[in-house]
Amino acid sequence: MSTEEDLPQHIAIIMDGNGRWAKSRGKPRHTGHRAGVKATRAIVEAAAERGVRALTLFAFSSENWSRPEEEVSSLMSLFFEVLQREVEILDKNNIRVRFVGAREQLSDRLQKKLAAAEAQTAGNDGMELALAVAYGGRWDIVNAVRQLSERVAAGELRSEDINDELFADSLSLAGMPPLDLLIRTGGEQRISNFLLWDMAYSELYFTPTLWPDFGAPQLDEALEFYAGRQRRFGRTGEQVDAPA
Ligand code: FPP
Repeated sequence: MSTEEDLPQHIAIIMDGNGRWAKSRGKPRHTGHRAGVKATRAIVEAAAERGVRALTLFAFSSENWSRPEEEVSSLMSLFFEVLQREVEILDKNNIRVRFVGAREQLSDRLQKKLAAAEAQTAGNDGMELALAVAYGGRWDIVNAVRQLSERVAAGELRSEDINDELFADSLSLAGMPPLDLLIRTGGEQRISNFLLWDMAYSELYFTPTLWPDFGAPQLDEALEFYAGRQRRFGRTGEQVDAPA
């Protein structure tokens, strides 16, 4: 029987493998991305049902701009279409949406949609869903450094007062619970410039399952893996096991 402590409060997912899923069926890549959207919907629903507090999804990285122009523009249209269709449903399910990434790099039309989705769901207090679009972990850290150094330059802050907590408050995921579990689908075992700061103590779960095939049963396998981990945060196993 799993306890509340066994459930990660915050999960992040690198949703990889849409292209290979399509290729293995002799279909174009965009078919894989459309199948990926279906998987995304199922996972958002399953995570909320299981009581996960926050879910962060890597939808488009800073590096994905270098994909063929046709794929980039088809992904951007897909994001717009998905927002158009799904925000109402997310809102009805009490989910709060936040976008993280260099949003000024996106079209005005998409930026407006993102802002509208955030505004519409801002009052919700169910699961928080962060969608990373044009996001990079290094970008996030550099951004935080810039914000803090501007405050130091303005005399609002002393550099010696900068600590972990203040730094985390300047990152995109500020205010969200610590990242407990990172899942990557599609077989690669790398971080690909995702949440570099946030995953300092996350458990890492890699699965060969391609993103369109990742559903509620596969999420449950990842949750089982997480529940079986002993989280030591730098302490020894004996210290963790000792009664308080
Ligand atoms: C990885 O597959 C996926 C992406 C580049 C991002 C697109 C994600 C979706 C369309 C899912 C839906 C997301 C939202 C928020 C609506 P890949 O193309 O890297 O696959 P490959 O490694 O097999 O080529």
